[in-house]
Amino acid sequence: MSVADFSNTFARRTHVAGGSELATILAGSPPGVLSMTGGFPNPKTFPTGELDEIAGRLLREDSAVAMQYTPCEGLPSVREYLAERQGQLQGRRPEIAELIVTSGGMECITLMCQALVDPGDPVVVESPTYLAALMALGRAQADATPIAMDENGLRVDELEARLSEGLRPKFVYTIPEYQNPTGRTLPLERRRALVEVCREHGVLILEDVAYRELSFDGSSLPTLWSMAPEIVLQAGTFSKSFFPGVRLGWAVGPPEVVAELAAAKQNTDQCAGGLGQRMVEEYGRGGGFERHLPAARALYASHWAALSAALERHMPEGVEWTQPVGGFLTWLTLPEAIDTMAMRPDALEAGVAYVPGPPFFVGGRGHNTMRLSFSHLTEPELETAVERLATVVGS
Ligand SMILES: Cc1ncc(COP(=O)(O)O)c(C=O)c1O
Repeated sequence: MSVADFSNTFARRTHVAGGSELATILAGSPPGVLSMTGGFPNPKTFPTGELDEIAGRLLREDSAVAMQYTPCEGLPSVREYLAERQGQLQGRRPEIAELIVTSGGMECITLMCQALVDPGDPVVVESPTYLAALMALGRAQADATPIAMDENGLRVDELEARLSEGLRPKFVYTIPEYQNPTGRTLPLERRRALVEVCREHGVLILEDVAYRELSFDGSSLPTLWSMAPEIVLQAGTFSKSFFPGVRLGWAVGPPEVVAELAAAKQNTDQCAGGLGQRMVEEYGRGGGFERHLPAARALYASHWAALSAALERHMPEGVEWTQPVGGFLTWLTLPEAIDTMAMRPDALEAGVAYVPGPPFFVGGRGHNTMRLSFSHLTEPELETAVERLATVVGS
């Protein structure tokens, strides 16, 4: 039997950088390897008991809604609930036309690309930024335009300079808290400056709040959307605060942008799964988030304390790392002579996995950087993982 060759069949846009890296992260690590790769929530935070009860009840009492297709924008009762929740958490309740239910944060980024980006359009990204977002921009053939970060996140002064020079991005993609991959948080003053600059230049912001509800101490800064709802489209997700298997999130923003996202959604999955939507609603209305999030925050804070102490104890001179105040991630900068891509096989051999930094940069800079996740290994495992990593870095 002849074997068909489809290699010339695929669209040019399928050849985007970063795909193999993401697939490696999602596939998990070989047995015996302690993995600090994925931004996966810790299964201890999954509210299985409550969900057992909620799912059973929905199937018994609400199957005609929960198991059916839903409107593209989401079930009306779920949109109502999410609007209330944004009001409580962000101090501004969106109108229903300002909010849709999505199948997760990543879908929202993809919808933004589909709705707004023509080939060659500039889109501003933080440098470094979320790998999967860079890939979505790549598939949309956007001109991803990096703006540097410092320890306080996006350099808004640099963005302002570029906009003043005439740069006209379709949007500015930013992750203001516990950023992926650096763990950094944009302070209040910079948030004000960012919305001011974007307002002045009429530029839309895509605010990704994936980790926002997971500050270590329960505190939070105002969202960009609450500060400037007319120019900010916020992408939220329940992957980190509930569980990623539900594949659910929200988009809030200017009604005309939200309507375009809903139109684009007709050509992806048409609607987020009804069962998951109703589960989030029942769990949330029943106070599930308030009951469970404090324990999740404490768990991640404790994991970070363990990782940070292990880094202090074991890492050789010349290694630096960021100090997240929430989320799952820290970012290491190693001595110039180290290439984290080249070092990875040795690390795997030593029984530890990390994500090398270059795929998080447009053009693959950052050869001596890496991302570590502290969310899912146990504290003793984090200690052992850092010990192994330090041996490889020091060798
Ligand atoms: C910054 C950021 N945005 C979005 C997502 C995607 O979330 P979801 O699982 O809702 O697609 C992630 C997941 O790791 C993330 O780190």
